[in-house]
Amino acid sequence: MHTEPTKPKSQWLSKLFPQWAHIHIDQLEQKWIAVSLAAVALFVGVITLDALFHGINPPSKVETIDSASLHLSKEFAEDNLGVQVDGQGNIIVRMVAGRYSFFPKHIDVPAETPLTFRWVSMDVLHGVHIPMTNMSTMIVPGYVAEITTSFPKPGDYPLLCNEYCGLGHNHMWSNISVIAKENWTAPTKPAATGGTSHE
Ligand code: CUA
Repeated sequence: MHTEPTKPKSQWLSKLFPQWAHIHIDQLEQKWIAVSLAAVALFVGVITLDALFHGINPPSKVETIDSASLHLSKEFAEDNLGVQVDGQGNIIVRMVAGRYSFFPKHIDVPAETPLTFRWVSMDVLHGVHIPMTNMSTMIVPGYVAEITTSFPKPGDYPLLCNEYCGLGHNHMWSNISVIAKENWTAPTKPAATGGTSHE
């Protein structure tokens, strides 16, 4: 039987890991290892560039808040919740998650318009998911989860908790009406106070 001498391995790998020279890895396999490493490098690169140049970050940007005293905070006091338009015309939606609902219980927002959601929890870990949209985030107690998105299609959407938060978890929901842009009127509440990335 003809035994082939071990094929030369990638030089840089042999230098990094001396035992590499004794492991047989098929050339085809080597190619696919390189392809998968390149894919990982590409994804990490895209995430890094987005974070640096487009400001796309995970929802929890380590903006902290005292979950136990939300009602005393300016931004998440009860009468400051819901939909507001700030000084620059940005629509900010402030919502509080607590066992077992989202507050306010119902909101109206315009379709095809950028909306900045700011979520906080008043007790334990919750999540929020709006089916058929790209709204989904964890709501970690002690942190503000901020997501800017827009909903292309008008309609009534449920707002569901997707992190187990207690016995009432599967009853934790509220709803959101996305209405045609031209039919939506900004609520006449006093201008929002409290920190957002738009100020
Ligand atoms: Cu809140 Cu599950």
